[in-house]
Amino acid sequence: GEAQCGACTVLIDGQQTRSCITQVGKVANKQIITIEGLEKEGQLHPLQEAFLKADAMQCGYCTPGMIMSGVALLTKNAKPTREEIVKHMDGNICRCGTYLRIVAAIQMASEAKRGAK
Ligand code: FES
Repeated sequence: GEAQCGACTVLIDGQQTRSCITQVGKVANKQIITIEGLEKEGQLHPLQEAFLKADAMQCGYCTPGMIMSGVALLTKNAKPTREEIVKHMDGNICRCGTYLRIVAAIQMASEAKRGAK
């Protein structure tokens, strides 16, 4: 409820948003995508797949917010540099310290996206 960690991040009309401080009345008629909404027809989102491949989680508390923030980044910038990833993800906290693997997962998803085009 204080927007301190980013674990509750969702996409509202494509913008990463801390749901814990967002009033329901402010999001009426807007598109809200949660971590559960990324999967399509049984296929995980490429960034969800990359998190699994990179083993980018320990307890998993931060993981939904990390993935949603990463998706927001990759939607705006399909080829982020390592520095751009680190800067963008700065507000998402991982108490288990899996930052290196999270960055690797985002890079992996970015490369997979490029390879698919
Ligand atoms: Fe535990 Fe990030 S995996 S807080």
